[in-house]
Amino acid sequence: MTHGTVDTDHQPVLEARNQPLSQTHNSEMGQREEWNKKNPPTEAVIVRGLKTTELTPRRYRNTKARFYRLGGDIRLQPHLSELPPGGASVNHRHTTEAVIYIVKGHGHTIVSWDGVNSERIDWQEDDMFSFPVWMWHQHFNDSETETCRYLAIQDTFMVKAIGLHQIERFPENQD
Ligand SMILES: [Fe+2]
Repeated sequence: MTHGTVDTDHQPVLEARNQPLSQTHNSEMGQREEWNKKNPPTEAVIVRGLKTTELTPRRYRNTKARFYRLGGDIRLQPHLSELPPGGASVNHRHTTEAVIYIVKGHGHTIVSWDGVNSERIDWQEDDMFSFPVWMWHQHFNDSETETCRYLAIQDTFMVKAIGLHQIERFPENQD
């Protein structure tokens, strides 16, 4: 075979994999897929009682959680997360956008770009906030006695459908 010609007898064979975008050593996608397989999204039209509905431990994030698919939605996915008293989630970022509504409790979120230009967002029950896509963020429960809960609504189904779903944890949180 010479340069500039196509050798049709020796086409490279490339293995196709349904793998997450940029599976780096900081990616959370493996742990997430494993957890989601064991805890598939709850399919419903309406979910009531977000303050008390039962959640499942999600240890790689130090939270309890439940994921949903509401009304057969193909773009937006909500999930509910709970932090224990005095607890913090891991510092992480994702290629989905997230609008976060505080269902119960009070605390704060630290957002940053690669650990610098940190900003603190204080929140309490009935607040709503968001931050730019791919920005690092870590949630903290500021109560030493009560859990807190937040509902995150993200464009996960749509971002997954175009093959751009990625979640990374901040390097210092590596085991
Ligand atoms: Fe997040």
